[in-house]
Amino acid sequence: ADAYKGEYAHYTLKEISEQPSTILNAGNNTRLEIDLAADSIKHAKNVYITGSGTSYNAALIAKFLFSKYAKIKIDPVISSEAQFSPDIFEEKSILIAVSQSGESADVLETVNIAKKTGSKIISIVNIMTSSLVHQSSVAMGLNCGPEIGVAATKSFTSQLVVIYKIVDNICNGCIGLDLTNASEAIKKIISNDSKIKEVAKRLKNVSDIYVLGRGIHYPIALEGSLKLKELTYIHAEGLPGGELKHGPLALMDSNSYVLIINPNDSTYNDTLTSAREIKARGAKIIGISDMPSDVYDYWLDIPSVSESLYPLVEIVPIQLLAYHSAVDRDFDPDYPRNLAKSVTVK
Ligand code: G6P
Repeated sequence: ADAYKGEYAHYTLKEISEQPSTILNAGNNTRLEIDLAADSIKHAKNVYITGSGTSYNAALIAKFLFSKYAKIKIDPVISSEAQFSPDIFEEKSILIAVSQSGESADVLETVNIAKKTGSKIISIVNIMTSSLVHQSSVAMGLNCGPEIGVAATKSFTSQLVVIYKIVDNICNGCIGLDLTNASEAIKKIISNDSKIKEVAKRLKNVSDIYVLGRGIHYPIALEGSLKLKELTYIHAEGLPGGELKHGPLALMDSNSYVLIINPNDSTYNDTLTSAREIKARGAKIIGISDMPSDVYDYWLDIPSVSESLYPLVEIVPIQLLAYHSAVDRDFDPDYPRNLAKSVTVK
């Protein structure tokens, strides 16, 4: 197994580092299926999307991308919740199932529920021999190679790329998907890893952290906080910046650490305002942005990419931050306590 990890101390670091190339390969093993999926979705009356954990966070990004670029409304369903939502699926709908392993019991159960209504299953999956693929009319591949680390990293960015490709197909290339540029951006972030490692050291004794993002960056805030929970056992909470004033601001003081996802897009000014409000309460701010600001105590800079591609890039520094914090705390980042790579029981 060590030989397979090669030069890397852990699978998780290896898998994070593979992303400049895995995002370029995503979906390439199933190009025809992406066309088929796009065509079915375009003609469907109702479209749902489901997943668990990280795959559900990818589903939330999908909702945003489908609505903004393809002008199609899709409903995200948390797989473990489907059984408690009576009549959740309209007859003869499409359910997009997102799963790295294709074996999560909750996802397979949701697929079953949808099938009973005559719905068609379209899946986005890494393991092409999995149960989910057998249950699907169309299966699109992540094509990112085996993911060993329990916390999903490269599978998440590959899920996003497959989603981008479906949406881009439906809107006739309106996204202008420049994956080479995103790949270069991720390479740059990884090559600046020493800065992220330094910031991780500052988190050594931190027990709570908030992750803020608005719009399409809110699901990335959720995914970032999931990485921090899984790898470092820090209590992390993803929040939409505008909700601060409706409660969480009460928690901000000089012991608080807040990660702000703030690329230079339409969310920038509002997110910066949130950062200032938090800073005024004495909290420490870690800014993830392509723009410097005096409000950040620590600035993790990301290269500028086209607006639609920021989510793909901005998750990477958070993955690295969570990884280094886990190592600093002497936790095994590959096999977090109490968690399994694939949860095949309900
Ligand atoms: C487990 C893993 C998570 C993963 C989730 C969904 O909880 O620990 O990392 O996101 O399952 O897995 P899937 O294989 O369905 O994407």
